[in-house]
Amino acid sequence: MSRVYNFSAGPSTLPESVLLQAQQELLEWRGSGMSVMEMSHRGKHFAIIAEELESDLRSLLAIPDNYKVLFLQGGASAQFSLIPQNLLNGKTKACYIKTGAWSEKAVSDAQNYCEVVLTASSEAEHYSHVPEPATWLIDSDAAYLHYTSNETIHGVEFPDIPDSKGLPLVSDMSSNILSRPVDISQFGLIYAGTQKNMGPSGVTIVIVRDDLIGHAPKTTPSVFNYAEQAKNQSMLNTPATYNWYLVGLVLKWLQAQGGVAAIEQRNIAKAAKLYQAIDQSALYHNPVAIPYRSRMNVPFILADDGLDKAFISAAEAQGLYELKGHRSVGGMRASIYNAMPDAGVEALIAFMAEFERSH
Ligand SMILES: Cc1ncc(COP(=O)(O)O)c(C=O)c1O
Repeated sequence: MSRVYNFSAGPSTLPESVLLQAQQELLEWRGSGMSVMEMSHRGKHFAIIAEELESDLRSLLAIPDNYKVLFLQGGASAQFSLIPQNLLNGKTKACYIKTGAWSEKAVSDAQNYCEVVLTASSEAEHYSHVPEPATWLIDSDAAYLHYTSNETIHGVEFPDIPDSKGLPLVSDMSSNILSRPVDISQFGLIYAGTQKNMGPSGVTIVIVRDDLIGHAPKTTPSVFNYAEQAKNQSMLNTPATYNWYLVGLVLKWLQAQGGVAAIEQRNIAKAAKLYQAIDQSALYHNPVAIPYRSRMNVPFILADDGLDKAFISAAEAQGLYELKGHRSVGGMRASIYNAMPDAGVEALIAFMAEFERSH
C-alpha cells in the first residue's frame, strides 16, 4: 500500500494515526464488544463518545458556556437556509458579505427567506480580496451579518474577525475551523462541515449563542430547529454516529499536536513556503491580494493553461493528488489543511520547481 499526498479540498486528507486507530477499533470499541457503527446512539458506550466529542471541541476552541454546540446533518449547505429560518426572529433583513463562491451560495439561499443586504462584495474583482471595512454597508435593522471566513474555491481568507457593528456575527468556517484560534464570544453563530479540518463528511457543527435560539417559526423542521436539537443533545433523530466518533478521533489528534494555537503556527509556515514558491516562479501565479490569501486553500494558475493536463499527470506520477482547481475557476488548487504534513507541502514545492524547469 502506498498513500499519496492528497490535496483535495474536501473530503480531504486525515491524520494517518486517526485512520490507524479507527482500523484498530473497527471491530470492537474499548471493550464494548461491538463496533461504534453498531452501537445504539442512546447506549452507554456511545454516550461516552458523544460527551468526549463535545467537551474536546469546547476545550480546543474555548467555547464559552453560553453557547450550544450542535452536531447536525445536511452539510454546511443546509445551514444556508437554516440560519435565516432560525435567526431572523421576526426581522425581514440579513446582511451578507460576498467574497467568493460559497458566500454567493449562502446569499442565494438566504434570499428565499429574507431581504439580503449586500454589506460588501468583491465579485466585480473576481473575488480576489476582502473589501475594505470602511466601505461596508451594515443595516442595523438586520438580524445578523454573515460572512465566509475562508473561501475554499477562491482561496480568500479573512485575516481578522469583522466588526459587525453590534449585529450577531455569523460565520461559515467550513474550511478553516480549528486552523487558528478564534474568540468565540465575538460570534452569534459559527458553522462548519467536518470534511476538511475535522474528519470525514457527514457532520455539520453549529456553535450558537443561547439567546439567539428558540425563535424559529413552526414551519421549521424539528431536526433543523436549533433549540429543539440543543434540548435533545443533537439526537432528535439518529445522528451520524460513526462520523461523530471519527471527528472525535481527529480532535484528540489535534490536542496531541498541541491544540489550535500550535497547529496555527504550522499552518502559517506551510502556507508561507508554498506562496513564496509561487511568487518566486515565472510559471505559477496566485491571484489573491496578499493580506487575504488563505492558509488552507492555495489556488494557482499556470502562465500557459495548455500545460494544465501535463502538470496534473506529472504530479500524480509523483504521488501528489487532487491538485486540479475547482471547475468554476480552473487552474490548480492545493488544499493544505491541518492534517497535511510539512513533507507533503515540501514535496509539492519540489515538484513544482522541477516541472517549471522542464517546461
Ligand atoms: C466554505 C464552504 N461552505 C460550505 C460548503 C458546503 O459544504 P457541504 O458540502 O458540507 O454542504 C463548502 C464545501 O466545500 C465550503 O467549502
